[in-house]
Amino acid sequence: MREVIAERAKRVPPSGIRRFFELVMGMEEVISLGVGEPDFVTPWHIREACVYALERGYTMYTSNYGMLELREEIAKRLERDYSLSYDPADEILVTVGVSEGYDLAIRALVDPGDQVVVHEPSYVSYKPCTIFAGGEPVVVETRVDDEFKLTPEGLEKKITDKTKALILSYPNNPTGATMDRKELEEIADIVIEHDLVVVSDEVYDKLTYEGEPCSFASLNGMQERTVLLNGMSKAYAMTGWRIGYAASNSEVIEAMMKIHQYGMLCAPIMSQMAAIEALRNGEREVREMRQQYIERRNLIVRRLNEMGLECFNPKGAFYAFPSIRAIGLSSEEFAEELLRKKKVAVVPGNAFGDCGEGFVRCSYAASINDISEAMDRMEDFVKDCL
Ligand SMILES: Cc1ncc(COP(=O)(O)O)c(C=O)c1O
Repeated sequence: MREVIAERAKRVPPSGIRRFFELVMGMEEVISLGVGEPDFVTPWHIREACVYALERGYTMYTSNYGMLELREEIAKRLERDYSLSYDPADEILVTVGVSEGYDLAIRALVDPGDQVVVHEPSYVSYKPCTIFAGGEPVVVETRVDDEFKLTPEGLEKKITDKTKALILSYPNNPTGATMDRKELEEIADIVIEHDLVVVSDEVYDKLTYEGEPCSFASLNGMQERTVLLNGMSKAYAMTGWRIGYAASNSEVIEAMMKIHQYGMLCAPIMSQMAAIEALRNGEREVREMRQQYIERRNLIVRRLNEMGLECFNPKGAFYAFPSIRAIGLSSEEFAEELLRKKKVAVVPGNAFGDCGEGFVRCSYAASINDISEAMDRMEDFVKDCL
């Protein structure tokens, strides 16, 4: 039979996270610090809004842009938090998670051969989706010595006359790094100088623990050049509901909407109803969960450092990213041995880019008890290795 798989699909390896989790499946008594999702269940009043929507017969398609009521709530949220003004009529698109938002943004912006700068370590989807769109990802490595921030020098070096877009992803998965307004302004200067578009994934903005979160779009002159992506998954513990959103100028949103319209049609209506409730009345729970993440972060970072795994203090999201270089194993060996010998699941750092080698990602979106027990087991493992 002829070769049926397209080159684009062949070029992209399966996600390193998924591959690792094949190993975890079926094992008993594993404590998982592996998955990147809250251990909290979505607050009840948000779930109830969905139940109530179903009771009232909300079971149909919505506008391709998403329900206007939800877009209005999103616009209010961006105004409230960042003084950003978007017209809910045509500058906001409701997507099936930030994942779809990113895919749409890249497909709307990138022509074959265009280069897209991605800083790494970072979330696993950016490079593959760029390749699927026919674009060429260009990696800027960030370093623990720079607190995993994208530096102006690092970015400048990777810009060519083919560079179209820059992906920004702070607070960062897997490092927990954040960038403040001043640091982002230096990036914005380069964006203007080279006439770039920015796709800014801000899904963890409400899980910022030090300083105020800063939306890239809120910087001087950046709103028109930025596709702001955000969603409900992380802050509201709503990963399974699949609601994200994109905000940008109407031209970009219309292009994204066209792709969404033909490929997805709309996000599920009952999830949209729940998202409306979350944005209207969910802030108290977000604050409470955030407080718990801070306590968990403090515990995990202290324990990792005490056992000799040097760990950068994450300033946002819910991941610790310790160096495992002292152990003398590769990231994959470390994660596999730790799982096999002590039944603790973490993700090898190289799943997030080559420069993640030498690190592992430990999610602290787990209970304090699980984190404590996982750290006891990991400490034993480290002692055995040294
Ligand atoms: C940085 C980042 N962006 C996007 C996503 C996916 O979010 P969603 O559930 O909204 O698709 C994740 C999930 O881990 C993430 O870490």
